[in-house]
Formats: sequence, C-alpha cells, structure tokens
Amino acid sequence: MPIKVRYVIAATGLILAVNTPVCAHAEDALKIGLIAPMTGIAASTGRQIDNAVRLYMRQHGDTVAGRKIEIILRDDAAIAENTRRVAQELIVNDKVDILAGFGLTPGTLATAPLATQAKIPMVVMAAGTSIITDKSSYIVRTSFTLPQSASVIGAWASRNGIKTATAMISDYAPGVDALTFFKKGFEAGGGRMIEEVRVPMSNPDFAPFLQRMKDAKPDAIFVFVPAGQGGAFMKQYVERGLNSSGIKVIGTGDIMDDDLLADMGDATLGMVTAHIYSAAHPSAKNEEFVAAYRQAFKARPGFMAVGAYDGMHLIYEALKKTGGASGAALVTAMKGMAWESPRGPVAIDPDTRDIVQNVYVRKVEKVNGEPYNVEFDVVQAVKDPGKNKD
Ligand code: PHB
Repeated sequence: MPIKVRYVIAATGLILAVNTPVCAHAEDALKIGLIAPMTGIAASTGRQIDNAVRLYMRQHGDTVAGRKIEIILRDDAAIAENTRRVAQELIVNDKVDILAGFGLTPGTLATAPLATQAKIPMVVMAAGTSIITDKSSYIVRTSFTLPQSASVIGAWASRNGIKTATAMISDYAPGVDALTFFKKGFEAGGGRMIEEVRVPMSNPDFAPFLQRMKDAKPDAIFVFVPAGQGGAFMKQYVERGLNSSGIKVIGTGDIMDDDLLADMGDATLGMVTAHIYSAAHPSAKNEEFVAAYRQAFKARPGFMAVGAYDGMHLIYEALKKTGGASGAALVTAMKGMAWESPRGPVAIDPDTRDIVQNVYVRKVEKVNGEPYNVEFDVVQAVKDPGKNKD
C-alpha cells in the first residue's frame, strides 16, 4: 500500500507527519497532492523531494495568502501506474488544488491528462524529459530537462580533447533525450561516436557494457543513469578496472548526485559532468540552503531537493499573486516568474512553462576532505534545447 502522510506544522515550528486528517481551517486549506517515489528504485529522489518540501515550509510557514497549505504525500514507488492512480485518488477523494512532485518521466506523462481534465496545476519537481511540459497546459516544471545538461557536456567534451566517445544510457525517455543532445553538441564540435548502448532502467547490469568499453577504447564514455543509480555504476566501473584504463567518464550530473556522492568513493575524483545544481555552488543563498538541509536531515541536498524546494517557492509566490486562488490563474501567475534559487538564477519560460537556468560544468574534487562537484564553467540562462527540435 502506498503511504499517505499529511504534514502539519506544530506550534514549535517543527513539521510533524501524522496519519489523521487536518481539520483546522479545512474550508480554507489549499491542498497539495505530493506524489514521490518514497520506496523502490528512485527512493533517493523521493527522500530529497519530501525533505525539501518540509524544509521550505519550516522556513516559510504553512499559510500563504490566507490559505493554510496542507501537503498530502503519496508514495508511487516509481511505478507509473501507481503515479496515475494516486493522482486520480488525490483529485477525486482528497480534492487537491495542486499536484506536485513526480520523480520519473513515465508516471509524469501518465498523469498529465488528469491535470488537464481536473484543471489543476501540476508542478513537476524532478522528472526531466523535454516533452513533459507539452503534455498539459497545466504543467509547470522546476527541475530540469536532460537536453539542457547533455548539450552542454557534449559541446564541452568536443572542445576539450575528447575525439571519440561511446554512450551508455538508461533505456527510457530521459536517456534518449540525453543521448540525442549529447551527440548534437559533441558531433557539432567534431567529436565522433563509436558505440551506443542502452541498459534497462530497473536493476541495470553495467558489467557487459563496461567490458565492451574496455575493448572499444574511446577517449570517454558518456553516461546517463537516473538519480540514485550513479553509485552502482561507479562500483562496477571500478570493479572492471576502468578507472585505471585512461577512459574518462563524462555525463549529465545525474550520475554524480550530491545526495550519494560522498559515499561513491575516490574513483569519482576528477570526473566532469554538466548540471544545474551542485551543493558546492558558491552563493550565500546556497550556503544557507545546504546548512539548513544538513541541520534538518543530516544529509547533503542533491539536485532533486533543489527542484522540490524551488517548486514550493513557485507555488507560494504564485499564490501570493493570485490572492490564494489556484487553477488556471495560478498557472498564469507562474509564467515568467524569476527568482534566485540555491542553484543560481532561474525563471519559468512563459511560452513553454519550463525552467530556464544556468548549466554548470563541474569536476569532482575534495573540499574539506569530502568530494564535491566543483563548478568551473557555466552556460547562462539555458532554455530547454529540446523544445526546438529541427
Ligand atoms: C526522469 O525519469 O525523468 C528522470 C529521473 C531521474 C533523473 C533524470 C530524469 O536523474
């Protein structure tokens, strides 16, 4: 049974999770149905989303524009049928005003028509396939798209001495987006692809692929696996002796998620990825965010936490603009909104409802004894390149 939890802010300011309905001011409450993979293959994403939503509410209170914010958290276990089913239940039974969360693309795509039918905003805080925002005019995204980061690492690789590459991608929509846009950037700069391999999204075995890579001897391997799988990839990479073969690993930042990086071992040192967030991003806003997250959850926030934190910010600020109204008016209020996120400056593209943000090129280095993605280059204000497929 998927878990169902409501957040209530206690008088102490602490957020408690309880299983009983909240009755206080129920007629004014604005309900957010938060769907996240709290169990299953993407549980690290679910944990980050849940943590970041709690942190945002702890810092900003639980009442906006006179309406009490009530979060109803549901676990979809990263299974698309569950995502759609719990969304349906949240709409019909709980009468939520907003759907939010969405850890993986398949469940997000399956749910999009429900947001359109119910005419409620659907804030995508994690999933990253380009096409998602095209699937409902009620979808607004605060995470990222794979083409944003993949195009930047592709161009960077071709400019930095990498002449040949192989690719290993997780075999579903974000992986296809990552590969398409890595190749575009890489080949436009003169790079040559040698081989492309897809691995199953659930329980992937990287070993056969890694053996082939040893024999193919590319300058670099481009890797996309969804958040949470980077540790398993790196383990097999080391076990197969690839770390001493001179073949570089490059990728989107999904394989070097800050949430797991500290436990991935020294083989990550020197690895270059492009992504939208690093816990080492040098800004006062980020330092404050990382410190508060660490204090609350004894963990380092990754990019999935930032997508959820910004998703809450977007909801709160848009509610202030509408005077607490939801529906299509809230989506309209979200369009064009811009703010400073822990990741840097971000905005919602009013035409696509997708996030516009900086993409950073980063190298794993030790900072105060712990590995971090240290940013050394940036492409500013990147709109989703996947929206202009020509
Ligand atoms: C997705 O399913 O859209 C997804 C999940 C995890 C990632 C990137 C994309 O790291």
